Amino acid sequence: MTREFPKGFLWGTATAAHQVEGNNIHSDWWEWEKIPGKIKKNERSGIACDHWGRFEVDLSLMRELGVNAYRFSIEWAKIEPREGEMNDEAIRHYQNVVRLLLGAGIEPLITLHHFTSPRWWAERGLWAAPGAATAFCGYAKLVYREIAAECTRFTTVNEPLVHLGGAYVLGLTPPEKKGFLNLKAPLVGMLECHRDAYWALHADAAERGRKIDIGMAHHVRVFDPKRRWNPVDILTAGALDRAFNWTLPDALETGKLRMKIPGLVNIDLEIPGLARTQDSFGLNYYSRDLVTLGFKDGRLEPVLSPKSGRPTNDLGWELYPEGFLRSLRRVHERYPRLSVLVTENGIADHADRNRSEFIREHVDTLSAAVSEGIPVTGYLYWSLLDNFEWIEGFDPRFGLVEMDYRDLSRKPRPSFYKYRDLIRAHAPSP
Ligand code: FCB
Repeated sequence: MTREFPKGFLWGTATAAHQVEGNNIHSDWWEWEKIPGKIKKNERSGIACDHWGRFEVDLSLMRELGVNAYRFSIEWAKIEPREGEMNDEAIRHYQNVVRLLLGAGIEPLITLHHFTSPRWWAERGLWAAPGAATAFCGYAKLVYREIAAECTRFTTVNEPLVHLGGAYVLGLTPPEKKGFLNLKAPLVGMLECHRDAYWALHADAAERGRKIDIGMAHHVRVFDPKRRWNPVDILTAGALDRAFNWTLPDALETGKLRMKIPGLVNIDLEIPGLARTQDSFGLNYYSRDLVTLGFKDGRLEPVLSPKSGRPTNDLGWELYPEGFLRSLRRVHERYPRLSVLVTENGIADHADRNRSEFIREHVDTLSAAVSEGIPVTGYLYWSLLDNFEWIEGFDPRFGLVEMDYRDLSRKPRPSFYKYRDLIRAHAPSP
């Protein structure tokens, strides 16, 4: 059934620089990927999809798809390969990307940091480096002034806790630190980076008489107790939900950073100037986990698993559109003043068997949310193209467009046309 989406609703797709552009040679990941055993099958991002060299091909795909928005990230390591040294070619490249998108009637939605960082910055300690906020803010201002002065929507950091959790708690991504004790310093540093960029960009925009929207893209997952009536599972799922889903957006609302998982982490502090530094809620929704408590390396820790008997994507993540509605409702209840932009939602589906249905169900869910009065402003499918899925390498296929990595040719999948039709059906009547 076709319900009305608000006027100006954004229909689009999302990508991230490191996953599609190729040759991110000055980034922390580039070096790290060379170490055997880090990425599945020892794959490396390499030329990826050569989105850098073939942007115009991908732009024509977007036009064919009929989107009016494209979320992508700018790669700091390309803009500033060495500290203080800006790369004109990279700046020109992104200027061109923005110009071409605007010319095609596609709104550029810009992410400043999507998991990867310049190596020089990483070597100094990433978000916890001395002067981190000054460096990040300098980069953010440069992007705004030189590349994106015509753009309106910005994400400072993509999935802050997925990024920091992988890098500082689970030790799966660079700099591979393990244990909750490592989390506090980079977390605080990241929030200071965000805060300074938020105020600086707003000041710049105001000087130009423009109004912009800045936030983060938060990964919200549903955590349900594995055994519905088991108090330990209920408490653990609740603690994980509070820590993973709400620590960051709460901090951006209240200025208070509070994260507590008994026995694992206890952070409670105030960051001056951080309150009310998100103008909308960027929501990445993928799946749900069932939660129980179990022993891992001799200590009790939350253990996650998909619900058995339910359909999953190629990575084993449960397909759970109801969780999308649950998440949208919770975001709205918690932050009633914020509109919600779905910055990512997608499925790894090599055979393209479930993707069309996945999108349809999630868009239906979204329209249910809209009719409940939840102010949703857009939906961005992850992803336009198959791409380099971090430690999983190139195997997972999230794309509406299939990549043949041998010759970098692109082929829209059947779901590409289904999404195109769906966008057309939902387009507001003129
Ligand atoms: C999200 C990331 C994105 C991509 C998708 C599948 O967590 O933001 O880069 O890896 O998952």
